[in-house]
Amino acid sequence: MKFRDFIAAMGIGLASLLAGCGNPQSMFHTAGPAAQRLAHLSAFIFILFGVVAVITIGILLAAGLSHRGTLDWHAPWNASGGHKFVLYGGLVIPGIILFVVFVLSLQRMTLFPLHRKQPMSPNILVIGHQWWWEVRYLRGPADQRFTTANEIHIPVGRPVEIALQSADVIHSFWVPALHGKVEMIPGLTNYLRVEASRAGNFKGQCAEYCGAQHAHMRLLVVAQPPAAYQAWRNLQLQPAQTPASPQAMQGREIFLRAACPLCHTIRGLGAAEGKAGPDLTHLAGRQYIGANSFPNDKADLAGWVTHAQSLKPGCKMPNLDDFTGPQLRALVAFLDGLK
Ligand code: CUA
Repeated sequence: MKFRDFIAAMGIGLASLLAGCGNPQSMFHTAGPAAQRLAHLSAFIFILFGVVAVITIGILLAAGLSHRGTLDWHAPWNASGGHKFVLYGGLVIPGIILFVVFVLSLQRMTLFPLHRKQPMSPNILVIGHQWWWEVRYLRGPADQRFTTANEIHIPVGRPVEIALQSADVIHSFWVPALHGKVEMIPGLTNYLRVEASRAGNFKGQCAEYCGAQHAHMRLLVVAQPPAAYQAWRNLQLQPAQTPASPQAMQGREIFLRAACPLCHTIRGLGAAEGKAGPDLTHLAGRQYIGANSFPNDKADLAGWVTHAQSLKPGCKMPNLDDFTGPQLRALVAFLDGLK
């Protein structure tokens, strides 16, 4: 990277920090205890290394600018004096600093408190897929459990245990405002505990390269006051709403006749029990589609159904482009009614 580009990148970064729009996807805008510990550790390391850099640059400048003269000027001079400087300045002091940072990372701040051993029973299981997030709410008896996708709701002020798995390749669960990254590894279950200290929408992102659409594997955590969370939960437990209009009713028939049920589940809609793609039972209640890559409105839904391969090339959703115009409008009316 050229120096000019570096300065430009720093400028853009600073501007976006100062802009501070709502809940930016940044580990410095924390909304929970785990992220706060990480932010404190980062700030400490930044200041510590800043001080080291200033001292180093100061010594370099002093050495460069000082008038050195000849060896005779400095006689009698100590031939091995430089060795000590290298030993302390190059080995002992950096060793101490790195050790302090290591211990802090390990104990006080991050690794031990954040990486949890298996909890008694996780509240939520998140399974990474290429390229979306399956979200299963596990707590309680069978009739209190449900599956959704890409948007995780949690109550404010309560710790939520999340189990992480992968259905295919390695992904990484990262919602910077709430927690550090935790890997989702095939064949292994990892755990983390998130807690949101305030309500809000917190964006996340798969943080491990997992294929062509890694960048479109986005995540949204919606932290709600407990009453609102409970209302959302109660709605999720319901089967899909009956279509409200004849057009949406027709759309439901089109959905069932097309390839959709092979991959998608809509609870309460008999034949639609596919598991390869996201559960659509309450699709319209989600803010985005395509793993939080596109707004959830009728135009984007129509675009997604017919041109998923243009919007997210390589994803498992095929282009379903043999609908007539009225058929597509009916299908979208049905999907848009799945509140
Ligand atoms: Cu999943 Cu990157």
